Amino acid sequence: MIQLENVTKNFDGPNGKVTALNDISLALSAGEMLVINGHSGCGKSTLLLTAAGMLRPDSGNVRLLGKYNPYDLNADQRSRMRAGSIGFVFQQFHLIPYLTVRENILTPLLSLDKENPDQRTQALIEQFGLKERSDHVPSQLSTGERQRTALARAVFNQPQIIFADEPTGNLDEDNAEIVLKHLRDYVSAGGSVLLVTHHAKAAEYATRILKMKNGRLENN
Ligand SMILES: Nc1ncnc2c1ncn2[C@@H]1O[C@H](COP(=O)(O)OP(=O)(O)OP(=O)(O)O)[C@@H](O)[C@H]1O
Ligand SMILES: [Mg+2]
Repeated sequence: MIQLENVTKNFDGPNGKVTALNDISLALSAGEMLVINGHSGCGKSTLLLTAAGMLRPDSGNVRLLGKYNPYDLNADQRSRMRAGSIGFVFQQFHLIPYLTVRENILTPLLSLDKENPDQRTQALIEQFGLKERSDHVPSQLSTGERQRTALARAVFNQPQIIFADEPTGNLDEDNAEIVLKHLRDYVSAGGSVLLVTHHAKAAEYATRILKMKNGRLENN
């Protein structure tokens, strides 16, 4: 599903070059939930964005779904591939503030031509425990409900891969476990999850754990 070969990414900072990814190689198959742990600044978010086709590496290869190098596609092809095959979950939810739970879950549809989506939306609302809140806008939700809405949106198009960057960073332990469990269920159903975090608990839900340090991956 995800393949990285010798990927390196440097940033130009005010004090010179920062090597955020240093010769990273990695392969992730369907049915895997890979959790990458590491301290702040070790390169986790950079790794996620590079693997997801959102940040071009300086060198090395990225391959998604066994076929695409996302950086060989033009911007339009790349966003269609993302919309159809990839879901994202972030620490800050990134919900649209003036849309309800139901409407937020539906937004991935805007980029694809799908049939009547009401049934799918309703099923997700129920699966993610949002039945009583489906007409609320994000400011009328708890943080756990916001992240569950973001998760329902991430899985709406039945993507093969979910990329998650600190998805439990703003949640209490109970809600964090609910979110991790949903991600694990999605993996059990055949999806792949690449999750980067410094939350130790996430490792309990992983099928594989790697540690990241100074832009490099280490086996745990
Ligand atoms: N646009 C940028 N310009 C310069 N340096 C950057 C840029 N983006 C990230 N960095 C640096 O690259 C390194 C890796 O950043 P990254 O955001 O990937 O870390 P992280 O592991 O996700 O940290 P956190 O756990 O705090 O989110 C950091 O040292 C950061 O300061
Ligand atoms: Mg980060």
